[in-house]
Amino acid sequence: MLSEMSACEPSRDCGLCPRLAAFRNTWRAAEPGWHNAPVASFVAPEGDRSVEMLVVGLAPGLRGANRTGRPFPGDYAGDLLYKTLKEHDFAQGDYRADPADGLRLKRCAITNAVRCVPPENKPVGAEITACRTFLTATIERFENLKAILTLGRIAHDSTLRALGLRPGDAPFSHGGAHDAGRLRIFSSYHCSRYNTNTGRLTEAMFNDVVGALARHVSEA
Ligand code: URA
Repeated sequence: MLSEMSACEPSRDCGLCPRLAAFRNTWRAAEPGWHNAPVASFVAPEGDRSVEMLVVGLAPGLRGANRTGRPFPGDYAGDLLYKTLKEHDFAQGDYRADPADGLRLKRCAITNAVRCVPPENKPVGAEITACRTFLTATIERFENLKAILTLGRIAHDSTLRALGLRPGDAPFSHGGAHDAGRLRIFSSYHCSRYNTNTGRLTEAMFNDVVGALARHVSEA
């Protein structure tokens, strides 16, 4: 399947990051049944104008979004993210870590700061910068956006830069909230298995951040 690059989405064979393109090609050969391409944003079926909040993750997991083609399913992080979104009425339906599960987002969209799976889950600075062109266009795409949930420092800093700010203007902290024009940015530690296993992030802590964001969206 061929796909054209748009302002918001890299093409299937995007070559902006040679290291990520090479990694992708290795996995296309090893696992031809997987998605193995940039992972597009996942948007509520009611369309762009319905989107009031945007989740910005880090990058697709190798056996998660890179396999399924949808941000987060198949990664442990997806279990916690989608469960919490459902609790705050940002999603409905069954979540089975399968893009055909019928899960629907409500009033929200999910994207990643880096659209291709990076080796060891670690994109380098040049890759984060190169992919920001798509993040910037994605934020601009949603004219009724009120809030952004950034998952981890890399997503937070890249979102700030996409909005024309510097990381020092609104330093990352778990539970932090910063206004950027019409948007309020809510920051959380990434909901990764590593962070929850080590106790850095508990379900209650994550729920509190998404709850604060949900209140803001309903009041703004
Ligand atoms: N899967 C994603 O799509 N993004 C993340 O940040 C982590 C897992």
